[in-house]
Amino acid sequence: MCGIVGYMGPRAACPILIKGLKRLEYRGYDSVGLALNESIGFHLFKTKGKVADFESKITHTYTTGTGIAHTRWATHGLPNDTNAHPHLSESGELVLIHNGIIENFLSIKSMLLRKGVSFQSETDTEVLINLIEYIKNQDDLSLEEAVRLSLNEVVGAYAIVVMERGRPDKMIAARLGSPLTIGIGDGEFFLASDASPFIEYTKNALYLEDGEMGVIIKGKEVEIRKITNNDRVVPSIQELRMNLEEIEKGGYEHFMLKEIYEQPRSILDTMRGRLLVDESIIWMAGIWDYKERFIKAKRITIVGCGTSWHAALIGEYLLEELAQIPVEVEYSSEFRYRNPIIYKDDIVIAVSQSGETADTLSAVKLAKEKGAFIFGICNVAGSSIARITDAGAYTHAGPEIGVASTKAFTAQVTVLSLIALKIGKHKGVLNVPRYRLLCNMLNLIPDKMKEILEMSQKIELIAREYKEAKNFLYLGRGLNFPVALEGALKLKEISYIHAEGYPAAEMKHGPIALIDENMPVVVIAPKRGYYEKIVSNIQEIKARKARIIAIVNQGDEQVNNLSDHIIEIPDIDEMFTPLIATIPLQLLAYYIAIMRGENVDQPRNLAKSVTVE
Ligand code: F6R
Repeated sequence: MCGIVGYMGPRAACPILIKGLKRLEYRGYDSVGLALNESIGFHLFKTKGKVADFESKITHTYTTGTGIAHTRWATHGLPNDTNAHPHLSESGELVLIHNGIIENFLSIKSMLLRKGVSFQSETDTEVLINLIEYIKNQDDLSLEEAVRLSLNEVVGAYAIVVMERGRPDKMIAARLGSPLTIGIGDGEFFLASDASPFIEYTKNALYLEDGEMGVIIKGKEVEIRKITNNDRVVPSIQELRMNLEEIEKGGYEHFMLKEIYEQPRSILDTMRGRLLVDESIIWMAGIWDYKERFIKAKRITIVGCGTSWHAALIGEYLLEELAQIPVEVEYSSEFRYRNPIIYKDDIVIAVSQSGETADTLSAVKLAKEKGAFIFGICNVAGSSIARITDAGAYTHAGPEIGVASTKAFTAQVTVLSLIALKIGKHKGVLNVPRYRLLCNMLNLIPDKMKEILEMSQKIELIAREYKEAKNFLYLGRGLNFPVALEGALKLKEISYIHAEGYPAAEMKHGPIALIDENMPVVVIAPKRGYYEKIVSNIQEIKARKARIIAIVNQGDEQVNNLSDHIIEIPDIDEMFTPLIATIPLQLLAYYIAIMRGENVDQPRNLAKSVTVE
């Protein structure tokens, strides 16, 4: 889970690579490096830290048109200058950037040590480049053949780009399990973990598939080959839809804030062309084409990680309630390792913003092997998960750059709401008046979100009072239990305050022991859905002197009287409260983290897409 970028063409590579690294920094930001390839040799720079610090260290203006660069999220070895990529081979003839993990690196390293190769770093990447060099030299092979044969010895996941000293006209790229895109311009090539580094230069992208390598030679067309047997593959070039404004901050201080504020628009985009509210029609080709399967499904399993897993939990409530299909939600990482029982008519829904999360991708592959029908809910078009599923629905939230997921979450919940409504209607388990009412309400969500965003100042004031807290508890019931989990996750990942989400009634079975005047408790308490029960829970909290921040519907007096602070949200059908109640929790986490001086867009130890196990 690192960011890799490469360029070969008539422009100076260095500024393109640095700009590309900035766009990919969400993928990892503990160290950074760059190698330029000139006919006289490599210029190599690398350091611990962020791209901005690194940039200031390159004082000379290099005009060379070929180079590769890397922003790292450490897996093997500490984040330091030596472990940063690119890595040179022992002789300095080859250089490599790598995203992924070489699982059998220790055995390869032992073999190479026995042959007399020495290593500078603790990384699996340095082992790989030395394996390539060893194989190349043994039989005097071309670079592409040495890369191919080496990759056949490797177990693990990778996206790599390799260059040879003094050959600025050539680059070899390969992928297995980690994403890699080749941008094809007019006489120039770009390589990157996603298309954002080259969006302003070309709209033509070639997504390498797992097990493929690209031989990129100046003045020629990219040649795609299978890593296993060297067979040629006909490249399929796709047109990118992303635009530059979508990946810039647009006047906001942070991407996270921009993305929180984008939600009324992103939800509209998610629903655009799908929810035809005047006709009460939900149009989703991915469901319609397989409607019999969905209508007859005896069970749906939803897999995901982190925030996407929370969206899946909300999906469980929605699909069971509106479409009457039993649903199980699993962490992808648990599902893939426990030999799950899957029947041929099972449906597995994979939820993933990036579409690259290693555990979710493996869960999908496993379910596929076992014969399930796989439906993907992804945000990134052309991502690995989107490509291997049988059908799916993109969330269309636009690029999400802030590491903490916000607009992707609400878009995922919106897609799951549309699916539940559509299946419920076709199955005949959701009566038409209720279906229509819910379609109308879903259509109102963007406006309701705007109302909450207008209250951000109030939320900022609340944040000020709690910014020094050491712990937080988030409680909700029913559909709002996953919202509590998501609120707690947002807070802990960006402010580093310990926070837990719990079903409100479950509090009595343990967490209540933690409650005293130092424990702020956020309670999601809308009028619809277990209101009286949650009022009782609030009374129990009050009796233990905790400070209460309650998310309530406008005009609620009962909870207001019991709480220290209330954040009022508009009234909406219980099915859609998660879409509304999530927004103040995102803002609360954001403001608390900012007041504590944290880097909200790049929280410590995290990366946007977790492409390693
Ligand atoms: C939290 C967050 C992560 C991701 C998780 C899954 O804010 O962003 O928990 O939700 O890593 O990522 P995707 O959705 O890309 O599979």
